[in-house]
Order: sequence, then C-alpha cells, then structure tokens
Amino acid sequence: MTGKKGSEVFFFSNLDRASRAIAKYLIQMILEATVRKKQFNLAVAGGDTPRHLYSLLASKFSDQIPWNLVHIFWSDERYVPKESRYNNYAMVLGALISKIPIPNPNIHRIITELEPPEKAASSYEKLLRKYFSDKAAYTFDLLLLGMGEDGHIASLFPHSAELMEKERWVVSVNAPSAIYPRKRITLTLPIINKAKSIFFLVSGTKKKDIVNSIQKDHKIARKIYPAAMVSSINKLIWFVVNDLPLIANIEKPQ
Ligand code: 6PG
Repeated sequence: MTGKKGSEVFFFSNLDRASRAIAKYLIQMILEATVRKKQFNLAVAGGDTPRHLYSLLASKFSDQIPWNLVHIFWSDERYVPKESRYNNYAMVLGALISKIPIPNPNIHRIITELEPPEKAASSYEKLLRKYFSDKAAYTFDLLLLGMGEDGHIASLFPHSAELMEKERWVVSVNAPSAIYPRKRITLTLPIINKAKSIFFLVSGTKKKDIVNSIQKDHKIARKIYPAAMVSSINKLIWFVVNDLPLIANIEKPQ
C-alpha cells in the first residue's frame, strides 16, 4: 500500500515484528551510508512504542552495527531532569545506549538542565546547525517518529502555533493540558522535513485509523494531524502494528 508521493505503509501483527523490520532496514541504511560518508545521523523518537526496537538494536542486532559511526539525536524531549522516568534521553539510555559500544561524543541529547526551556531549545539548535548546514541536501539520515492518538509527532501538537514555524529548527512548547509533562523541547517541521528518510512506528487501532485517513485523503488530513504535515527527502515509511487479530481482517465469505 503506498500513500502520498513516496510514502509506503506496512502492517504487522505485533510490535516485535514491526520493530524487527525497522531494525533490519536501519542496519542496511547504516552500512550503505557509512561506506560513503563515515557517519550515520539517527534521530530517535521518545515515548513507549519504540522502546522494544531500541532494546532489539542493543541485543539481537547490535553486532551488525558500526556504533562508532552512528550519531544519535532526539526528535524531542520532555523538559524534566535527565534522570526522570519521563525523560526521552533516559529511556533511550536504558534501552539502548547503556548496552552498546557507542562513543560518548556520538550522543547528542537535549540538555534540559539549561534554564529557561528556550535556552535548552536554542542550545540544541546551535548543536544541530553545527552538524547540518542550511544548504545541506538533507539533515538526519534517518528520523524515527512515533505518533500520538491525536496525530501529534515529536512535541508538535494539532493546531499548535509551532506547526507554523518556518525558521527555527528547535523550539520549546507547552503540550496540551491533558499531556504530561507539558513543557517540552521539540524539533520543528523545517528540520523534520529535511530528514533523508523518516520511519513512523505506530501501534493501536486509533493510530491505524489516522494512518489510513492520511493515506486516503492527505489534503484533509494535513489540516488535522501534524503527522500528515511530515515529508522526507527520500523515503517515508509507516510501520503500523495492526493489533486486531489478523483473522478479524479477513472478509467474511459472502
Ligand atoms: C514523546 C514523543 C511523542 C511520541 C508519541 C507516541 O516525547 O512522547 O516524541 O511524539 O512519539 O506521543 O508515544 P507512544 O509511542 O508512547 O504512544
């Protein structure tokens, strides 16, 4: 199933299968890229869904990856201490970084000790602009994204002013009151849409329905879901965990 120009959607019966598919794709991309340019820039998603993928990369697939050539960035961060269980860096540190031979200088977290949040955002933007010039053809080799059940990506929420940001690459935001933690630092669409490839990993019926509506009527979806405002330079692939038992999808014989 292909969606808007260049995007593809793959369905999996469980999170393990979807995570393994991404891991295999990622290894191939890293090996190809590091033949040419000796560094692979990976931006990771926060939240819960990608945790299993990160633990697979740290175990089953780890020895296939030249970790010394991989640099890790974040798509967003909750403005909480790095030791907090709500912190995305802490989640990736526990599931992946603490278990692989990756050099410390390759880890580029969003420094939430900086106050106020705007300072944490501008410091991260400075770091990114050191790695990626405005004129570069693309930024991250791969950006991993999750999606909320409202269609948010990173910490860009529906109808938020930050979705209209055209210049800055990193901003501080207040998430909707129902979301905790509210204060966040997030990449914006100008840098997200300059990623060479973007993989979405989403699980659950509500998110599957959003994916289907994005694929079916992208023009309308763009007005509602930040996820529909994402595009990449090269590949955009959705890895969707279709958590309905597969049998449920089989048409009943007439
Ligand atoms: C975050 C993430 C966020 C996440 C979605 C989905 O900081 O929370 O960057 O955008 O990807 O909220 O989260 P789950 O995977 O936990 O459903």
